[in-house]
Amino acid sequence: MDDVDLVRSRVDIVQLISDRVQLRRTGQNWTGLCPFHDDKNPSFTVSPKTGWYRCWSCGAKGDCFTWVMETQKLEFREALQHLATQVGVELKSQRPSVDSGERESRTRLMALAQTFFREAFAKSTQAQDYIRNRGLTPEIIDQWEIGYAPDANDVLAHRIKAQGFSLEMAKELFLVDAGAGGFYDKFRGRIMFPIRDERGQLVAFGGRLLADGHPKYINSSDTPLFSKRRVLYGLHQARDVIAKSRRAILVEGYLDVISCHRAGLSESVASLGTALGEDHARLLKRWVDEVVILYDADPAGQKAAARAAEILAAAGLRTAIAVLPPGSDPDTLLQQQGPAGLHQAVQNGMEPLDFEFRQLEARLAPDDREYWDEVVAILAQSHRPLEVERHIVRLAGKYPDLRDPIAAQRALHQLVRAAQKELRRKARPAAAGSNSAGSTPDRAAKGRIHLDAREAVVFRACLDEELRPVVWPRLSDDSLWITGIGARLAAAWASLGECPGGPAAGFLGHLDDVELTDEILALEEHTSLPVTLPTLQEALDGLEKRREQRAVVELRTQGDRSDATLDEISARLKRLKNIDSSPES
Ligand code: CTP
Ligand code: MN
Repeated sequence: MDDVDLVRSRVDIVQLISDRVQLRRTGQNWTGLCPFHDDKNPSFTVSPKTGWYRCWSCGAKGDCFTWVMETQKLEFREALQHLATQVGVELKSQRPSVDSGERESRTRLMALAQTFFREAFAKSTQAQDYIRNRGLTPEIIDQWEIGYAPDANDVLAHRIKAQGFSLEMAKELFLVDAGAGGFYDKFRGRIMFPIRDERGQLVAFGGRLLADGHPKYINSSDTPLFSKRRVLYGLHQARDVIAKSRRAILVEGYLDVISCHRAGLSESVASLGTALGEDHARLLKRWVDEVVILYDADPAGQKAAARAAEILAAAGLRTAIAVLPPGSDPDTLLQQQGPAGLHQAVQNGMEPLDFEFRQLEARLAPDDREYWDEVVAILAQSHRPLEVERHIVRLAGKYPDLRDPIAAQRALHQLVRAAQKELRRKARPAAAGSNSAGSTPDRAAKGRIHLDAREAVVFRACLDEELRPVVWPRLSDDSLWITGIGARLAAAWASLGECPGGPAAGFLGHLDDVELTDEILALEEHTSLPVTLPTLQEALDGLEKRREQRAVVELRTQGDRSDATLDEISARLKRLKNIDSSPES
């Protein structure tokens, strides 16, 4: 068992959650008012058996670690540490090692570089002129800790060496590089933006050329301290504000973030020299419910905005896309129109589908075949069913093939459903465990899965620590299952190998298929009667009986009267008789 499983097996999820939510026992589970949304009726359940909590209304769910991450705004590592301390587990990674010394040196080295860039800025009139021309005041320069990397070969490298730091480490941190003539500085002749993670730790730098030239920006690549997929520029300055407003503004660049903050929009953050990804979306989801996307008005920016909206929506965030006047970005808009221009743009943020249709309608007309192909593709990808409905009604009148708007609506519905099915089919093999943010929040509304009742008992038994070893070996018997979903579940669980111990949250977390995991948890939480050994036995017998009966019927209808077939039929009939006379049933 690794540290994570060990901690999870020791945490009492009901007790943990009771610290914040008043829970009442209902059958095997506990219920209360959901802390993640404004809950009127208790729709929040905690299952001690699975170790998971879930809200039937807003879709919040997870295990003890997710709980601590969500409620205390911690990273996974921090949540693990927090819970480990509570339950008295000493984490392997925390035991004294060379590691912690190394981490401290790295942090000190980054701080040294930052001090160096700040000093250089204070000495360079050229850098100060540039920044002043871009409209930044001394207070803003200090607030964002803007620095300057001199246009020289190896001044920083010298400083690093003189202070006794390892140049190899500096190379790892993207501060210097090794060339034929020794180590040289990575950033030269650039305005420096220090990049802090959401806790305020200095993890990277971005540097902009003072003059025109290429590349305009250089950003630290991923280093031991920095993963660009997980950091948003400005988040540590914005975090208190967005935690209150539950809204963030997403822009493209460093100066866009700074300009927005200057304009009073201090909810602004940016991804760094990389498109917004799922990790960014998850990071934001911990703080906010809504994101307004404010990207550059150029075609690349608008395309990126649509894509970002999709990713954010898939993570369960509401989104709006703000459209800027042609040719501008938030920074230039502030220069041209002042704060009011920016506020206006944010206020006029469009629902993503409206935005996409606006783009589409600028290129194609309803007479074009491709127009309708794109309409269907756009609608199929949306995570907002009511919005999709609104657009189908709106567009039905323009549908060229059918005059009757009701018939056109029906046709569009069908096309969208088919396209969604295709999307799901394509997404399935790729839907790895990391993708949990992509599952729909309205699962509860969609009703339960269609498992055979006996299958359901078997899978629920797997959630139980005591029954699991009894039932686990049967999972790999793939002739046992009646429904397709039963067969898929059994195969997925069996693929984990030997019977896992501990709370179900441990092995459920290792499953690739998020959708299935979710279904089975839903099932468990909706059923108040626990599975007992006799009910399990009965269910297994029932499944076997059914298999034998089917086989017999099939063999008989084949009309094959060979000895082998007749023998098989009688063997199966005998097995059936045995099942019937076994003491449990
Ligand atoms: N970017 C980058 N590398 C580049 C160009 C851009 O990493 N070669 C990133 C930077 O984070 C930049 C953002 O993409 O801030 C947006 O790019 P762009 O709009 O070109 O730059 P601006 O932020 O508008 O910068 P400026 O106003 O200084 O031109
Ligand atoms: Mn820009």
